[in-house]
Amino acid sequence: MCGIVGYIGHRQAYPILIKGLQRLEYRGYDSAGIALFDGNIMNYKQKGKVADLEQFCEGKNIKSTIGIGHTRWATHGVPNDVNAHPHHSQDKSISIIHNGIIENYESIKKALQKRGHQFESETDTEVLVHLIEEIQKKENTSLFESVRLALNEVVGAYAIAVISNENIDEVIVAKKGSPLVVGIGENEFFIASDATPIVEYTKEVVYLEEGEVARLSIKDGFELKTIENVILTPYVQELEMSLEAIEKGGYEHFMLKEIFEQPKSITDTIRGRLLSSNASIKMQGIDSYSDNILQADRIIIIACGTSWHAGLIGEYLLEDLARINVEVEYASEFRYRNPIIREKDVVLAISQSGETADTLAAMRLAKEKGATVLAICNVVGSSIARLSDAGAYTHAGPEIGVASTKAFTAQVTILTLISLLLARKKSTISESYYRQLLIELEMIPKKVESMISMNDYVEDISKKFVDAQNFLYLGRGYNFPVALEGALKLKEISYIHAEGYPAAEMKHGPIALIDENMPIVVIATKKGHYEKVVSNIQEVKARNGIVIAIVTYGDTTVKEIADYVIEIPEVAEPLTPILANIPLQLLSYYIAVMRGCNVDQPRNLAKSVTVE
Ligand code: M6R
Repeated sequence: MCGIVGYIGHRQAYPILIKGLQRLEYRGYDSAGIALFDGNIMNYKQKGKVADLEQFCEGKNIKSTIGIGHTRWATHGVPNDVNAHPHHSQDKSISIIHNGIIENYESIKKALQKRGHQFESETDTEVLVHLIEEIQKKENTSLFESVRLALNEVVGAYAIAVISNENIDEVIVAKKGSPLVVGIGENEFFIASDATPIVEYTKEVVYLEEGEVARLSIKDGFELKTIENVILTPYVQELEMSLEAIEKGGYEHFMLKEIFEQPKSITDTIRGRLLSSNASIKMQGIDSYSDNILQADRIIIIACGTSWHAGLIGEYLLEDLARINVEVEYASEFRYRNPIIREKDVVLAISQSGETADTLAAMRLAKEKGATVLAICNVVGSSIARLSDAGAYTHAGPEIGVASTKAFTAQVTILTLISLLLARKKSTISESYYRQLLIELEMIPKKVESMISMNDYVEDISKKFVDAQNFLYLGRGYNFPVALEGALKLKEISYIHAEGYPAAEMKHGPIALIDENMPIVVIATKKGHYEKVVSNIQEVKARNGIVIAIVTYGDTTVKEIADYVIEIPEVAEPLTPILANIPLQLLSYYIAVMRGCNVDQPRNLAKSVTVE
């Protein structure tokens, strides 16, 4: 995925674009570029980060009150200066930035080449801008109309912004499958992939819907239509985001800030939902579909990456507490597997960004087959949230670090609330256990706070593993997905190979890997098959493996055998994953920092994967 920004108005565009690109850098960071108007539309682009682009622009004439900018995560064509966006038309009069993929670009390219077009880059985006130019010349029409007509010829996903020499009082934008937000100021417009570059200037925004194209002009205002040419009225919304939420606030990295924010983010997730006064749970979206859920044959959870791990914890919660049959699917596998989906199925999509392409496609498939489609999302107004029949926002606040931390614990919190809500409706747990879990859930933010206060201790442990080559993570029951998530976190930011396993599976293969160089993180909390996991630790120690154990406060047995012990507060078993996950986040964070890795922007990764 990529990040796009744009500006038209009375201010200088360059600083707004650069700041916006820095905010969107989590979406892609292999190259960046801007287009400004300096008598002519000029493209400035550079392989590398936004900082490299800034350096490149030093000394250039960057005065312009209109501009578009892009930070890239390569799909078509390697990351280099030429493939970086913006791309221009053959006669260099039109510039475009694009997030998404034009799937039929090769056939369009061939047809354009026959008509004399020459291409500089390997990208699908350059083909689109040439197509716009071709149509504009052939039809002798406006840029707005040419963009609309061109989009009728392309197959794929896009969020685009287009400017041209011909009329520097307009930016044309369009969206299908990739997000695009327009901020409305006083005689100015801001364009971005998400609201973070906009919030500082205005709170009035319009989220473009699928297949919409707009012309933003200072003279004529906001013109909106569908690509089929149906004129629409823009729906202006108020942004709820605050500027502080998207800044580092004194932390070295967004990831650390987001780990530390978890007492607050979990509190925000349960606020207004967990009503301790009358021991009830209020979740409007889920409640309105609770009959469908209760009558469903099964719930199919679809997600990717960390959200998939939250989904696995959801499976344990929903089965254990609400006795509902649950299947958890990688969205990318589910959508291509010709899955059996019945009308009585409830599909629950989980996504931080709400833009993950595979999850979106799997949801569409489930909708086509008539299933009820619910969603748990963090980003308000995201594509997944809007595609769902109903759902729940996690309210974790903007998550900027590529490695998901606070969004994960918020997802697990929401899944706990949903499971408890359904369990009570179905009377599958006793009233006293229900109330106990509710009280304990309300106390979780305090317990997370106590985990975070172990930061320095975990940092010390991390020092011992900076040079590790491999890691194993073991957990059982509710803690098996925690082991998977711990391993993913470590590998994605420190580039150390790590695998998560159900503890009991160790002896079916991974045990062969264990020697004196192999660190093994074992989640061995009191209530989760404790004795059996202790035996696994013994087996590891018998082969000289190095054990880092996550245990319940006051544990003495594991302390005697493990090399390092991190204690978590005592908590009911279904709530263990939230607490056990925190030290694993910190462990991976510190190991990665000590290895000199860029934890907020790990190599090859993007925050949300909006391409297949
Ligand atoms: O935005 P989503 O939750 O749909 O994203 C899913 C995965 O791409 C994401 O969780 C990814 O695995 C993260 N890098 C994990 O930290």
